[in-house]
Amino acid sequence: MLRIAIFASGNGSNAENIIRHFNFSDRGAQVALVVSNRTDAGVLDRATRLGVPAQVLTRGDFNSPDHLLPMLQRYGIDFIVLAGFLMMIPEWLIKEYKHRIVNIHPSLLPKFGGKGMYGINVHKAVVAARETQTGITVHYVSEQYDEGEIIFQASVPLRPSDTPEDVEKKIHQLEANHFPIAIEKIIAGL
Ligand code: GRF
Repeated sequence: MLRIAIFASGNGSNAENIIRHFNFSDRGAQVALVVSNRTDAGVLDRATRLGVPAQVLTRGDFNSPDHLLPMLQRYGIDFIVLAGFLMMIPEWLIKEYKHRIVNIHPSLLPKFGGKGMYGINVHKAVVAARETQTGITVHYVSEQYDEGEIIFQASVPLRPSDTPEDVEKKIHQLEANHFPIAIEKIIAGL
C-alpha cells in the first residue's frame, strides 16, 4: 500500500477530496499524513475529522532535512501531493522524492503561473485578461514555482460576466472532479 502525504496551507477542500477518494476504498494507496505550515489551516480539522494524522511545521522545521525527512520516513511516505501549499519546496526534498511530488495549480499553465499567482489572485488575473476558458494543471514539482513537467490539464469555459469568485467555484468543481483520479493514475504508473 503506497503512502501519500498531502501538504496544504489553507482550507483543504482538495485534501478532503483526496482523503475521501483513497482512504475509504481500496485504491492501492492511502493518505497517511497531512502537513501544514499554519496552525489555523482548515485542512487540519478536516484531517482530524477523517482520521488522518496531521503535523504543523514551522518554516525552520520545514526547511531542515534533519527534521522533515525523518518525519516523512516515520510515516512511511512514498508520494507527496501539494494542494494549496504556499511554501517553496526545498531542493533536497525534490531530489529525495524525484517524480514523486505533484502540485495542482488553478490555471492552464504556463498561463497565470509564477510568483504571486495563488488563490484568488490567479482568478482575478484570468478575468482581467478576458480569458474565454481557464482550468487546472497537475504537474511535477521542480525547483521553480509552477514550472515542472505537466501531467494533466482540464479546462472549463468562462462567461464574460464571470467574477473571480465565480471562476474560483468552477475551478474547485474541476479540481474535485479530476484531481484525486489524476493522482490515482500517476501512482498506478510508478
Ligand atoms: C486550489 O484552488 C488549488 O488549486 C490551489 O489552491 C487552492 C486550494 O484550495 N493551489 P483548498 O485549500 O484545497 O480548498
